[in-house]
Amino acid sequence: MASPLAFIGGGNMAGAILGGLLRAGQVKAADIIVVEPHEPQRDKLRADFGIEALATGDASLAQAGTIVWAVKPQLFGAAAEPLRAWLGAALHLSVMAGIPSSSLVRLTGSERIVRSMPNTPALIGQGMAGLYARPAVSADERAAVEQLLRPTGQTLWVDTEDDLDAVTALSGSGPAYFFLFVEAMMAAAVDMGLSAEQGRRLALATCAGAAALGLNSPESPTTLRERVTSKGGTTHAAITSMQADGVDAAIRRAVLAAQRRAAELGREFG
Ligand SMILES: NC(=O)c1ccc[n+]([C@@H]2O[C@H](COP(=O)([O-])OP(=O)(O)OC[C@H]3O[C@@H](n4cnc5c(N)ncnc54)[C@H](OP(=O)(O)O)[C@@H]3O)[C@@H](O)[C@H]2O)c1
Repeated sequence: MASPLAFIGGGNMAGAILGGLLRAGQVKAADIIVVEPHEPQRDKLRADFGIEALATGDASLAQAGTIVWAVKPQLFGAAAEPLRAWLGAALHLSVMAGIPSSSLVRLTGSERIVRSMPNTPALIGQGMAGLYARPAVSADERAAVEQLLRPTGQTLWVDTEDDLDAVTALSGSGPAYFFLFVEAMMAAAVDMGLSAEQGRRLALATCAGAAALGLNSPESPTTLRERVTSKGGTTHAAITSMQADGVDAAIRRAVLAAQRRAAELGREFG
């Protein structure tokens, strides 16, 4: 990378991205600027990655080609304000949930903004992030952003900024829905006389295997479900019970509730 890559906030998400880039040899530690006010976190960046993070931003940020915003959304305004003079020329990538791109334009002075909605599996390189770019972002810059986020997992572009609320509701919050499902499977395991640990292993491995099957198969999820659901069999008994309880409608309502909340939070942060 010719010009430095900067991170504002050097916590979990920043660590996942820059750690992956360093391991892949895509960028050198000397070409990364991190602004991180929390001293123990700066010590960790030095120990883990050999990066000397800055406690406060300085004029070196003006050299950065890309600036990644990885602070908690409620801290964005306070983090950006003192850095304003150095932000206008860069491409900005935000991984902050809920901050509208118009706020990023206002506080950075740059129209070249990409918003990303990552999820927690990004921390182990298995994430799924939705991406939205403002019109001023070029095709080459989009490709550079994809490259930047590759260590955290997969990416998917959406056409409108509002679509990010749907991404938030599906993949952003999705890991929590999945864990709720696993918790219920574990409780059922105990009901049937297995241990919670046996239930945890059976449920997680089954979910991971089913997800891998879905990802690798040309068949739709519906076909894959029907294939294990022979009439009168055990799976049929379970699916019939779930349908009687309205599980699918409840999941749809839950995801739409998350989308509405994402839109509300966006308005609050905007
Ligand atoms: N973790 C995920 O999987 C995930 C998923 C989706 C979205 N996100 C988004 O990613 C963003 C970062 O999340 P995270 O989990 O990486 O949080 P995090 O681990 O708390 O990292 C944020 C870091 O920024 C630092 N910071 C605070 N104020 C700052 C300032 N003025 N300038 C520079 N750095 C500052 C924090 O220091 P202090 O500890 O001193 O405050 C902290 O070390 C959030 O906006 C979140 O919505 C994360």
